[in-house]
Amino acid sequence: MKKPFQSYAAGLIKVQKIIDKGSDLVKYFILLCFVFSLVTFAQDKKEVSFSKDLIPLFKAKCFRCHEQDEENPNDFSMDTYDLLIKGGKTKNMIVPGKGSESYLIIKLLPNPPKGAQMPVFSKKKLPEDEVDLIKRWIDQGAKNN
Ligand code: HEC
Repeated sequence: MKKPFQSYAAGLIKVQKIIDKGSDLVKYFILLCFVFSLVTFAQDKKEVSFSKDLIPLFKAKCFRCHEQDEENPNDFSMDTYDLLIKGGKTKNMIVPGKGSESYLIIKLLPNPPKGAQMPVFSKKKLPEDEVDLIKRWIDQGAKNN
């Protein structure tokens, strides 16, 4: 039979091991959080390209109704940089450096002040990451890049 002291010591060692394992987990967790925040930070800093990132998105979801068409003039065309910057009837379409004040972004969010949330007549509105991509491009100065 073990002496009480021995089992007490064995118990302590066990507890120590559990704490050690736990603190390893905590370390991994902190490391993971750090890596994750670095990745999102890097993504935030990455420059959004008008031609490579936005045109394909607009083409898939907006050109159907907002492409310049000689026969069927559109109030708001977004198929070239100049047309997009020029905007439509509503002012402040693009406010460089201020995505959240730009009407283009306001129109992509629920309950815009005028008309419908874009893309209109579509059950699938833009997912948050796509709105965020456009917003980041404006925040970064809305460059013709
Ligand atoms: C099915 C056709 C359709 C699609 C697709 C569509 N729109 Fe529209 N859009 C309209 C119509 C119609 C209006 C005018 C009525 C209104 O403002 O709700 C409009 C108006 C707008 C306006 C306001 C223009 C102004 O000067 O007031 C913006 C900004 C806009 N759309 C952005 C977009 C974006 C960005 C997409 C793609 C994600 C998109 N739309 C997709 C039909 C469409």
